[in-house]
Amino acid sequence: MNRSIILAAGQGKRMKTDLPKVMCEVLGIPMLRWVITACEQSGLDDICVVTGFEHEQIESYLSGKYPTVFQSQRLGTGHAVMQAEDFLKKDPDGNVLILCGDAPFIDKETITEALKLHTDENNSVTVITAVLENPAGYGRIIRSENGIAGNVEQKDCTAEQLKIREVNSGAYWFKVRDLLEVLFEIKPDNAQAEYYLPDCIGLLIEKGKRADAFISENNSVVLGANDRKGLLALNDIARKTVIEKHLENGVEFICTDGIIIEPSVEIECGAAVLPGTILKGSTKISKGAVIGPNSLISDTFVGENTVLNSVQAYQSKIGSGCKIGPFVHIRPSSEILDGVHLGNFVEIKNSVVGKGSSVSHLTYVGDSDVGKNVNFGCGVVTVNYDGTKKSRTVIKDNAFIGCNTNLVAPVTIGEAAYTAAGSTITKNVPDGALAIERSTQVNRENYAKRKLGRHIKKGENIK
Ligand code: UD1
Ligand code: CA
Repeated sequence: MNRSIILAAGQGKRMKTDLPKVMCEVLGIPMLRWVITACEQSGLDDICVVTGFEHEQIESYLSGKYPTVFQSQRLGTGHAVMQAEDFLKKDPDGNVLILCGDAPFIDKETITEALKLHTDENNSVTVITAVLENPAGYGRIIRSENGIAGNVEQKDCTAEQLKIREVNSGAYWFKVRDLLEVLFEIKPDNAQAEYYLPDCIGLLIEKGKRADAFISENNSVVLGANDRKGLLALNDIARKTVIEKHLENGVEFICTDGIIIEPSVEIECGAAVLPGTILKGSTKISKGAVIGPNSLISDTFVGENTVLNSVQAYQSKIGSGCKIGPFVHIRPSSEILDGVHLGNFVEIKNSVVGKGSSVSHLTYVGDSDVGKNVNFGCGVVTVNYDGTKKSRTVIKDNAFIGCNTNLVAPVTIGEAAYTAAGSTITKNVPDGALAIERSTQVNRENYAKRKLGRHIKKGENIK
């Protein structure tokens, strides 16, 4: 069987973070998760992760789904693999893919094509490599007549070897039995006094085994990040790659400034994404929708032809043909049905807003079940929290909530009922009724005229 080991002991001191380096995020996803996803997509789900710095964080992130082994001292990539000896010995007949947890762009095609070369050529080790314009910093691959002779780290290279542009990505396929035969023979006799995993290549060749390299078409498989600048560069690459995929699928972008789309997001052909839009998690955007400018949509479904302009939405479902924004906040567990209009400074939380309803301005709808074709005036508040518990507000179909109404939950507004502007409603309103809760207006004739008339005559300002 084929399995994988992911090396993830690095601290990433230069990232200046308390996180293990592999937990630093590219497009909102830890680098380690990118690598695991590439394994899973390649059909490898027997994975062992070698941890070191802040290992508890990685263990809790993996929540037992994948085993980890702890490398107490960071003595090199070869030493890291030695920690996984028991994992390797469990199935010595198969192949093992060794990956760096901080090189997130390893991909399924590279993994599976490299495995094909590995098995077709009956190699003991197949190094995944790339040919770079600027190979600085990477291990250089020494080619032989029949495959490769080895890898030389940058710090151990001669001037001539530094010119080699084929580099080691840090990813390898090994025959497990052969790897175990040489792994513990590696010596830290090099410029960095580390146990170098690629030293296994020379040791295997000495034993008459075959080693070769698979050149990936995807140069970015070698890329990792050592500092924040490097991480930003990875984010830029990932961001562009994701946007290009959506462009190919027929999503419209007129300008990609400030657009960040996590790889898990689905967007249908014919939707448009405008500048300043961030789409996260399990968000799905349907055809004809226009998202942005300046919107953050997370784990939310957006129906066909819906417009979200300057909207923040989280863990919610928004129907088709809705017109939402600007400046609308849709908080978790909300369901906005088809044809709803939500206008400026409206907040919806844990509520259903029925078909065709309209909440146009300055309104809070929380813990509410709103029917269809309900109209909210300006400044309505569902008073859902009494300081100890939350209660629900029910508003039935075709109701009309007057401006500046407080609906003190639990309370029900009946079908096609009205509330008068400025009312604080604490009792249920029957179907078809008008509820007024405010004192009767008294007009004192000529009061103001008497008081202010003098000033008005003189043309003075009234203070
Ligand atoms: C390694 C390769 C180099 C290759 C480069 C690609 C060696 C000796 N060199 O170099 O040829 O071009 O990757 O990025 O392998 N790690 C551990 N424990 C350790 C040391 C490293 O878990 O003791 C992990 C790191 O967290 C990282 C990965 O192994 O995920 C690679 O380690 P790193 O120190 O970055 O290797 P490089 O020196 O870059
Ligand atoms: Ca590295």
